Amino acid sequence: MREEDFIVSTTDLQGRITYGNRIFIEFSGYSESELIGAQHNIIRHPDMPRGLFKWLWDAIQGGNECFAYVKNLAKDGSFYWVFANVTPLFDMNGRIEGYFSVRRKPRPAALAVVSELYRQMLDAEMRAGARDAIAASTALLQQTLSEKGRTYDEFILSI
Ligand SMILES: Cc1cc2nc3c(=O)[nH]c(=O)nc-3n(C[C@H](O)[C@H](O)[C@H](O)COP(=O)(O)O)c2cc1C
Repeated sequence: MREEDFIVSTTDLQGRITYGNRIFIEFSGYSESELIGAQHNIIRHPDMPRGLFKWLWDAIQGGNECFAYVKNLAKDGSFYWVFANVTPLFDMNGRIEGYFSVRRKPRPAALAVVSELYRQMLDAEMRAGARDAIAASTALLQQTLSEKGRTYDEFILSI
């Protein structure tokens, strides 16, 4: 990503893309018509641990924002890292009606930290097997945070 870039997308409650800005379309490599209506996991990279997305969905479905470093897969097979903020969108009655994400260029020093963390989380998922994968990588994430004496947000925003 370039310094001035913001990648923006929105989804419905099920994670289907309802909007993507020009930079999102450019980085994903898909056309706007391929993206709208597709599940947001269309750009999911296999290096991303499932436990991280569980963490993200738990936060936003609970009405909270979530910050995360995410490695994304473009249509041509290349990847790009983003620093994402994902938030719920509320209707007039305070009910969640969709989700919104804006991403900017990640700091290279932070990527060194998170790529190692994600590698360990993926490793834990593979060792645990499909059924217990998310529990295993979530436990590893929680253990890492407690060793650092930090909440997830404190950790992510400090690296
Ligand atoms: C607003 C919003 C933005 C998202 N952005 C991304 C993204 O950039 N990359 C990604 O892999 N997943 C993103 N996700 C999470 C996906 O919906 C999905 O959970 C993830 O790709 C993992 O796929 P899975 O849930 O099928 O395992 C986003 C979700 C929401 C609600």
